[in-house]
Amino acid sequence: MGIFSFLLKSDSAKPEPMPLKVDMHSHFLPGIDDGAQNMDESLRLLKTFEDRGYEKIITTPHIIQDLYQNTPDTILPVLEKVKTALKESGSKLQIHAAAEYFIDDRFIEMLENDEPILTLKDNLVLVETSFLNEPAYLRDVLFKMRLKGYKPVFAHPERYLYLQTKKEKLEELFDSGVYLQINTMSLGGYYGPPALKFAEWMIEQGFVHFLGSDCHRVKHLEPLEKAYQSKAYKKLRELPLLNDSLL
Ligand SMILES: [Fe+2]
Repeated sequence: MGIFSFLLKSDSAKPEPMPLKVDMHSHFLPGIDDGAQNMDESLRLLKTFEDRGYEKIITTPHIIQDLYQNTPDTILPVLEKVKTALKESGSKLQIHAAAEYFIDDRFIEMLENDEPILTLKDNLVLVETSFLNEPAYLRDVLFKMRLKGYKPVFAHPERYLYLQTKKEKLEELFDSGVYLQINTMSLGGYYGPPALKFAEWMIEQGFVHFLGSDCHRVKHLEPLEKAYQSKAYKKLRELPLLNDSLL
């Protein structure tokens, strides 16, 4: 009876939640950042997401001053190539491209000069920061984004050391209206126990608006599968996530 009741209570006994329709953070455009390296890898990743029930992928190549100087001109032509190849392969998956903007001097310049910013949808812009240190001007940049009419979506806060060690800063971001996006793989422990623990706390508090795979390569497919089976993923899916509003 002991073992049987354990099985009944176990996480795996619960059915998996309905799949989300939209994934809004990934690196699937070949050869322009540290994501998919070629078209074959892109198509394999996209097909796997389609098989999992996703209807739309918003892929988000890095834009980082010293590493990946992408612009709409480097991103959108590659998107068109992937769209064509995907269609030719018989897929019905929709694919859109935005970007994951690293908050640095170049990003501030883009905002100040009113350069075109790629959005997830409407005025939603995905941003990231250093994993270790909070940028000195974080609040100013988020404020400036709002002044320019953008809504910041903060990528994977659960992975940032400066937030893990100061939860009240995360709460401040939430209270200020910044959207918060957790990485799916954090929920299966892929980035280590601190990120999982912090993600679980965010879920408990309801401080989550979006879930994103942040999938870069085929190697990530296995930890993603593990995450879908996790207790934290099932708990998160009880929250009213905004992913499918991006369809
Ligand atoms: Fe990313």
